[in-house]
Amino acid sequence: MKKLAIVALVAAGTLSLMAADGKALAAKCAGCHGADFSKKALGVSKVVKGWSAEKIAKSLEGYKAGTYGGAMKGVMKGQVASYSDADIKAVSEYIASIK
Ligand code: HEC
Repeated sequence: MKKLAIVALVAAGTLSLMAADGKALAAKCAGCHGADFSKKALGVSKVVKGWSAEKIAKSLEGYKAGTYGGAMKGVMKGQVASYSDADIKAVSEYIASIK
């Protein structure tokens, strides 16, 4: 019985680690975009704060696929290349929720 409980705990822990956490995913963006996304990243991006989750997700999917962006889109491709669809959704919803 004890062993079973430990297995269940470990499984639950793994699951919560794998669930996409928008806030955690957005932490690495702050250096360029600002913690509330009100900065022009590297002086060239648009200000993302105030965008809808759909608009953010579309641009991130575009960067990942190489179909969106300006002269510095390569920078953003590197940021989101490893993001799953669920990660993009979670981070977009988090950014859109920043007031
Ligand atoms: C190393 C700096 C840097 C980091 C880190 C970074 N970005 Fe960017 N971001 C940029 C630049 C530069 C652009 C503009 C690229 C272009 O299209 O020419 C941009 C553009 C964007 C845009 C579209 C705005 C526009 O100009 O159309 C979104 C949305 C965005 N970034 C979200 C994110 C998210 C979410 C993260 C974190 C996962 C992130 N960025 C991390 C530099 C960065």
